[in-house]
Amino acid sequence: MSMQFTTAIRGNFFDIAACVDRPEQLDAQLRHIADGLLLLDHGTIVWHGSWQQGASLLAPDTVVTDYRDKLIVPGFVDTHIHYPQTEMIGAYGDQLLAWLKHYTFPTESQFGCAEHAEKMSAFFLQQLLSNGTTTALVFGTVHPQSVDALFGQAAALNMRLIAGKVMMDRHAPAALLETPQQSYQQTRALIERWHGRQRLGYAITPRFAPTSSPALLEQVQRLRNEFPDVWLHTHLSENHDEVAWVKQLFPQRRNYLDVYHHYGLTGSKSVFAHCLHLEEQEWDCLCDTHSSIAFCPTSNLFLGSGLFNLGKAWQKKVKVGIGTDVGAGTTFNMLQTLGEAYKVAQLQSYKLAACEAFYHATLGGARALSLDKQIGNFSVGKEADFVVLDPAVSPLQKLRNANCHDLAEQLFVLLTLGDDRNIYRTYVDGKIVYQPSARQEAA
Ligand code: GUN
Ligand code: ZN
Repeated sequence: MSMQFTTAIRGNFFDIAACVDRPEQLDAQLRHIADGLLLLDHGTIVWHGSWQQGASLLAPDTVVTDYRDKLIVPGFVDTHIHYPQTEMIGAYGDQLLAWLKHYTFPTESQFGCAEHAEKMSAFFLQQLLSNGTTTALVFGTVHPQSVDALFGQAAALNMRLIAGKVMMDRHAPAALLETPQQSYQQTRALIERWHGRQRLGYAITPRFAPTSSPALLEQVQRLRNEFPDVWLHTHLSENHDEVAWVKQLFPQRRNYLDVYHHYGLTGSKSVFAHCLHLEEQEWDCLCDTHSSIAFCPTSNLFLGSGLFNLGKAWQKKVKVGIGTDVGAGTTFNMLQTLGEAYKVAQLQSYKLAACEAFYHATLGGARALSLDKQIGNFSVGKEADFVVLDPAVSPLQKLRNANCHDLAEQLFVLLTLGDDRNIYRTYVDGKIVYQPSARQEAA
């Protein structure tokens, strides 16, 4: 049998074969191939299975990259992150509304400068890749040049990335405000320039209800109607003071989500970050409209926002992805983020199994972004974005890893003790886009 491929990778593979509606269904979908083979034709997966079955597909002179002592998983999907907040990560002392005023708005003001945006975009993408994140849904700032810089550099890497310029017309410093008309025009021009170019997608990005006047939300709705295929990305019900403020600003709406729903902003391509203090009706509305949630554990702990109820999301059949939410989140690293997700679940007596955690960070996150046909696992036809993990890099990790009895335990230890040191290689579009420097690897 002959097969057209450009790259052959042998190793220990783990992924989840199909999306599920209940966590109990995950066990049946786990795919662990301890000695496996992955064949790529440039950026596309053309064959995946055991080495034993696949070796006959290789010619005698085929170069095979051997990662048998590593663990290869699909690239991580970060469903909510702010690239312009990279330089203000770890800002002390405030909860959401004061944090925005004291740290976020001043930092974001600098992105009117295209040179600054270029520099920060490069740094940001490097952080994603060095943490094994190959796809992200990203906030820019209100400045169109912030998004041009990010998309331009993501295109050079051929990453699957979704981003958008912030839209806001009130309750922020004047330098960051725009009129609803400007916001519409600039967003429209960016959609036309970037959406669907290579692997890029555009997300219409109203910051959140408090910085949006009804007139702005009408323009967002207009864009949604004109471009039904783009994403919608915003924040929802993160902080108690924020929720109370939204009720004051929009007294005619029944709750926070109803502000967005009223303007037609819910739907299968809508992603709402946080969702910590939802009313029953809001859960039902998310479910009925097939909207998605980005669960951002490190951010929710850091800003003292609250605990996301993952069990409830399963019960209500709402799609969930994981967001690092940098700069309110405290790490780009998905392993660390999953470790914090586990603790958030613990505080509510929900047992977050490692396999479930990996699902949310890969195929589940892809589904939350309506990208599960393109990415999220090693199924044939999908795009070749994946991470080679070194499961044990420190003396403590090595000791603990040697004491693991099965893959589930190894994965759990990885998300409890792991960090960027465990990222051995990151592949995007079938190519290595990150490997640690020799010095780091020797250390
Ligand atoms: N709500 C509105 N803007 C933001 C932001 O930048 N970060 C977070 N975490 N919440 C927000
Ligand atoms: Zn956010």
